Amino acid sequence: MTIPAPFDRFDLTGKVALVTGGSRGLGREMVLAFAAAGADVVITSRKVESCEVLAREVTERTGRAALPYGCHVGHWDELDGLVAAAYDRFGKVDILVNNAGMSLLYDEPTDVTEKMWDSVVNLNLKGPFRLTALVGQRMVEHGGGSIINVSSTGSIRPTPNILPYAAAKAGLNAITEGFAQAFGPTVRVNCLMAGPFFTDISKAWDLERVNEGLQSHALRRGGRPEEIIGAALFLAGDASSFTTGAVLRADGGIP
Ligand SMILES: NC(=O)c1ccc[n+]([C@@H]2O[C@H](COP(=O)([O-])OP(=O)(O)OC[C@H]3O[C@@H](n4cnc5c(N)ncnc54)[C@H](OP(=O)(O)O)[C@@H]3O)[C@@H](O)[C@H]2O)c1
Repeated sequence: MTIPAPFDRFDLTGKVALVTGGSRGLGREMVLAFAAAGADVVITSRKVESCEVLAREVTERTGRAALPYGCHVGHWDELDGLVAAAYDRFGKVDILVNNAGMSLLYDEPTDVTEKMWDSVVNLNLKGPFRLTALVGQRMVEHGGGSIINVSSTGSIRPTPNILPYAAAKAGLNAITEGFAQAFGPTVRVNCLMAGPFFTDISKAWDLERVNEGLQSHALRRGGRPEEIIGAALFLAGDASSFTTGAVLRADGGIP
């Protein structure tokens, strides 16, 4: 009997992947990687123009179909339209990546307003909950799927300056395990826990302080955006067929 080529387990030919926050940063890297591995893609973020630019790039560079869709992930009423558009266009979603996320800057916890709290929790937790519920149910009916929640090491190593974000991402870790139980054995749900990556998010960082902090990490550096790809491809396809409810850290070895 021939041994299946190891890379076949990472092949996404015939699959459809929906990536929130797909226009920039880690989301963009995952979109391009999934398309290069054979998947058609749904790219969504608030600015539909950015999604359209990347959709054209996807098709030019990989030949795959790409649907750009403008949507605020923190607003539940916009998620129904996103799901409808994806299923109208492709008839299914095999891979959902809840990637859109952000934190807000503040000095003291008392500076965090209710509006700030809501916008951080809505985007990082409330939206992913609803989208996972909507798409996961359809994946079960369709007979399979893989859901990836992009969390943060901030959820397990919270620092005083990211408390609402850390709480929201910790919630995301929790619902990852819960949804894995809810949608198993048909659909797998995993968490990709990112550490510091040099994306647009890092433009708000005090780089000198961050670089100092990075010296205590095992790899002593931040991640390049494309370094998310290996973990994302693993969780998206058959390579992770026995992995669900898991947290995979891609963080350069935070102690
Ligand atoms: N970079 C890091 O160091 C790091 C560390 C740990 C965890 N993470 C997590 O990794 C994920 C990706 O981060 P990133 O660094 O790639 O971020 P990024 O470069 O800032 O990109 C964020 C993406 O999300 C979209 N987005 C932002 N707000 C949105 C909203 N309300 N609704 C829909 N889309 C929205 C943005 O597009 P629009 O502006 O067009 O909406 C963009 O496509 C996030 O969940 C983040 O929390 C990142």
